[in-house]
Amino acid sequence: QTGSEGGWRAANTASFKETAEQLGLTLKFYDSQNDLAKQVAGFQQFIQDPEVDVIVMSPLEVTGWDQVLKDAQAAGKPVILSDRRIDGNEDKYVTFIGADFVEEGRKAGLAMCELLKDSPSKNVWELVGNVGAAPAIDRGTGFRETAEKCGITITNSQTANWSIKEGKEVTEAWLKQSKDVQGIFGQNDEMAFGAIEALKEAGLVPAQDVKLISVDATSCAFQAMLDGTLNGAIECNPLLAPQVYEAAKAALNGETLPKWIPSQESEFYM
Ligand code: AHR
Repeated sequence: QTGSEGGWRAANTASFKETAEQLGLTLKFYDSQNDLAKQVAGFQQFIQDPEVDVIVMSPLEVTGWDQVLKDAQAAGKPVILSDRRIDGNEDKYVTFIGADFVEEGRKAGLAMCELLKDSPSKNVWELVGNVGAAPAIDRGTGFRETAEKCGITITNSQTANWSIKEGKEVTEAWLKQSKDVQGIFGQNDEMAFGAIEALKEAGLVPAQDVKLISVDATSCAFQAMLDGTLNGAIECNPLLAPQVYEAAKAALNGETLPKWIPSQESEFYM
């Protein structure tokens, strides 16, 4: 697992632990503490572990996997990517089970276009996830595809590493430079929550003076929409374990699976 960076990740980890128990599977869980070197080491540990039959990974970044995937293949251990894709190496993993992050970005852009349709200015700031992660890269791509079509200009974009703390710090720094912002796109809920705190402390009314859209749709996002501080949340489904364990069983039975099994998700508005 990547680590424990927020509500989405907690739900994702719970899905794997609870479903393993329900299915009578032995789950060995390695927390990479959001450190790529640690995640590679954990992967190697599972390759060496004779008790491990299948390796499931939520990759912190899209690159850095060539060698461990070769080693897993040589050891005859099927690999399943969960949650996040990687670059290339399709012949070295069974399947990727996770969201279309580009589509999530497109949905967020369409939502921001709708929110700003009557606004003469359409300056939007983007709080980005950890650099090199598929959701950070792909949500940014998708958001630009749709947002720029309705005249939105992204005037600030910076990583805030999925966290409330950094989301607030980055937004505070931007607000010190300018308050000419009409929308903020948080690539996850936690960074949007940080932006909401910063806006309030700067005397701006979140979801009114500045519109906010985030991705994940965790329970806290629904609370923020009920509180009237978040305009909308694009769902990213964390409950992937049932599909992943099904794929693991199929892989051990020698079945061929599609290289990508998209997870099911929607969007929710205030
Ligand atoms: O890979 C999914 C992303 O990882 C979620 O959107 C984010 O909250 C988590 O850190």
